[in-house]
Order: sequence, then structure tokens, then C-alpha cells
Amino acid sequence: PTRVFTGLKPTGRLQLGNHLGAVRPLLDLAAAPAADVLVCVADLHALTVDHDPARLRALTRELATTLLACGLDPSARLFVQSSVPAHTELAYLLECTATHGEMTRMVQFKEKSSGSDSIRLSLLTYPALMAADILAHDAEVVPVGEDQRQHLELTTTLARRFNARYGETFVVPRATTPPATARLKDLRDPGAKMGKTGSDGSGVVFLLDDPDTIVAKVRRAVTDAEPALIYDSAERPGVANIAALLGALTGREPAAALDGLPGSGALKRAVIDALVATLDPVRRRYAELAAEPTEVDRVLAAGRDAVAPPAAATVARAREAMGLLRVG
Ligand code: TYM
Repeated sequence: PTRVFTGLKPTGRLQLGNHLGAVRPLLDLAAAPAADVLVCVADLHALTVDHDPARLRALTRELATTLLACGLDPSARLFVQSSVPAHTELAYLLECTATHGEMTRMVQFKEKSSGSDSIRLSLLTYPALMAADILAHDAEVVPVGEDQRQHLELTTTLARRFNARYGETFVVPRATTPPATARLKDLRDPGAKMGKTGSDGSGVVFLLDDPDTIVAKVRRAVTDAEPALIYDSAERPGVANIAALLGALTGREPAAALDGLPGSGALKRAVIDALVATLDPVRRRYAELAAEPTEVDRVLAAGRDAVAPPAAATVARAREAMGLLRVG
């Protein structure tokens, strides 16, 4: 079996970009026979920007619960990053194989640090922690959205460099991104990624939005004044984004999703129907699971217990290879 791993950070509620960029691809991989799936709620990553402790704790449980509500099997190993010490330990070792230049070249770092004179140091070292998440668990395939690809490339570089310098230690992972929804756009601003910090949320569909909210958000989505619907992501980004969304929800190519739809009104109605059909069961299941928080905690504890010992063994291999004396 192929070891599949991904992480999501609990800085906000899960939105459609997360779903179609990473969660759905993950669930598709998880459905394969003998799938070997690990999912991490990356709470340590949420500490790299200004955060509120009570909100972080609540969002961590909410994210885990939402993933289960989306259909992640409770037998998949779902765990909280900070509950597995291997991540932070390995992150330091990997920081000692990476350069300052590599970290400052990361596009996400540049975006999030620009215009601020007081960023947390961990925002710079973040990709080393993310590499540690992946390498600690011997991940082979990592489903992510487009915005994480550069971090994945750095992870691959660090794994290869470590193996070449200190001897075969890590599995070298590869990223997978979905064909049409690797970068879902904001419904109100088709130039920006959905979920981008700073958006007011009116163009972001959250997985737990109720049908009325979904209707309101889709009705206000930006399209254009052209009468016929044609898929053209450069010239008609608003329509193309909704077509990609509809296609992903209904198992079609973006262009094919527009077939038979006379105009943007019909397109919006079709998207509303598909979204409500997809998200209604998620919201209902979420409500059931949220009523039993100890059950979610039990899943997270079982996940931690299953993944922590093998991850510790991987870190022990790395320590040994780097020349740290094993005492006792
Ligand atoms: P995060 O929490 O920002 O996002 C979680 C996943 O959702 C994807 N995504 C999108 N995909 C398509 N369109 C969008 N608009 C969109 N917005 C978000 C992201 O690409 C991501 O796959 N650093 C990671 C979390 C992480 C991780 C890991 C991922 C921590 N450790 C190890 C993989 C492996 C992050 O901030 O993702």
C-alpha cells in the first residue's frame, strides 16, 4: 500500500478550497483498497501568525470533527500535530540541513511577511516543520492544493539532501494536486485564492455553511455580462472558477460542466444544487459528531497512539545518521 499523508492548519473554518484542493483528493485516495492514510491537524503551524489560544483549541477540534463529517474513516489515523513530539524534534534537525535563503524564497513567506515589521520567527522556519510532518511519517503521496506545492518541493529537496549527505534515512515524497481545483478562487474576487487571509469571507463557502448562506454567497458570485457560457480561464475567470467548482462536485471536466446551461443564472442554480447536495450531509453529520466530543477525542488519541512510535523511530534514524550520540 501507498502511504498517503496530508495536513491542514486550524487557522479558520474549513472552506471549499481546502475541500476540493486537498480533502476530496485525500478521501479518493483513502477509498483505494489497502489505502494507508494519515491526516494531521497542524496546530503548531497555526502558531506562526497572531492567534487566540481559546479559538485555536476550538478550531482544532472543529477541524478534526469536520474531516470525520466529510467521510474520513475513523480508522484512518487522524491526529493532532502537537500530540506527536517527533514533528518538532525532526523540524530542528531539518532546519540544520536547510539554508536561510531557501526559507526566505518561499512565496507564502514573502506574502505573509510583506508589510509587517514584526513577524514570528516560526513563520520563516515553517517549511522545515512541514517537511518534518511529512518525512517523520514516511509519506509517499501528499495531496495538497497549488499553494503548498513549493513547500512540497522543498521537502523533497531536503529529504534528498539528507539522504545523500548522511545516508538513506527518509522516504522521498511526491505532491499530487487535483487537475481543475488546485487553486479554487474566491467567488467575489476570481483573481484571489479562496480562503486568502484578508478576504471578508463573502466569497468563501465554508463546509458548514447552511443552505441559505450558500444560496446568498453563490448569487453574489462574480460572473460576467457575456450571454453564452464558455470555459475560458484567462478571459472569463469568474465563470471558469464556478465551472471548475461545479465540475469537481459532479465529476466532470470544467468545460463539460457548462454543457446545456443557457447562462450564468442557470449555472448558479446548478452550483447551488450541487453544493447543497454535497454539504448538507456534511453539516448534519458534523452536528451529530459535535454532540459527542469525547468520541472525536478518542479518534485523535487512537491516531496519536498509532503514529507516534513509528515516527519516533524515523527520528531516531535521523539522529543517528547526523551523529548525535545515543546515550544510555
Ligand atoms: P492549509 O491549512 O492552508 O490548507 C489545507 C489544504 O487546502 C489547500 N487549499 C486549497 N486548495 C485549492 N484551492 C484553494 N483555494 C485552497 N486553499 C487551501 C491547501 O493547499 C492545503 O493542501 N502548510 C499546510 C498544512 C500542512 C501540511 C503539512 C500539508 C502542515 N503540514 C504536511 C501537507 C503536508 C497549510 O497551511 O495548508
